[in-house]
Amino acid sequence: MHDSHSTFVITTTATGRRAGVISLHQRPKHAPSIGYWIGKSARGQGIATEAVIRICRWGFEDLGLPVITWMARVGNDASRAVALKAGFQMEGTLRLRVTSQGRLRDCWSGSDSGKVGSPRQGYEESCSANARYASSSKRTNLTSSTLA
Ligand SMILES: CC(C)(COP(=O)(O)OP(=O)(O)OC[C@H]1O[C@@H](n2cnc3c(N)ncnc32)[C@H](O)[C@@H]1OP(=O)(O)O)[C@@H](O)C(=O)NCCC(=O)NCCS
Repeated sequence: MHDSHSTFVITTTATGRRAGVISLHQRPKHAPSIGYWIGKSARGQGIATEAVIRICRWGFEDLGLPVITWMARVGNDASRAVALKAGFQMEGTLRLRVTSQGRLRDCWSGSDSGKVGSPRQGYEESCSANARYASSSKRTNLTSSTLA
């Protein structure tokens, strides 16, 4: 397997405006990981949560991934809230794991193994019937930006 970033532009179903980006990173000898960013004016509407749920469904159901991991700097409560809501389980704190503003920082780490019974299931059921990664859903559309 080679290094690949699958990046999707997130647009809102209601307005068609770009809200942010989400990416699934696959690397040899590492578990797949996700990262996401939502523009300030689009935050607080559940957009990141829905995008994470949808990219994870794609990863588990279509790519057959056994696990997807998440990391964020300690203190990034918003990112952790999104990951938890989307069904990730927190695993702990990794010391001095990422460089930010020229310094190594501690990170929170979590993972989702796509198991039935994850909080994601309930959330999915509350989404609209066509909440599938490749089609329109309640709040978001994901458009493939780069597939390496
Ligand atoms: C993290 C980020 C993607 C969240 O996007 P969002 O679309 O606003 O998130 P959602 O609306 O889906 O929020 C999901 C939950 O997080 C909670 N949340 C949002 N911001 C929060 C904050 N600052 N502190 C604590 N919880 C927060 C929300 O309340 C919501 O929970 P609720 O529905 O129970 O109220 C966005 O803030 C962002 O882009 N931040 C900068 C980049 C970043 O940190 N990316 C993550 C790196 S992995």
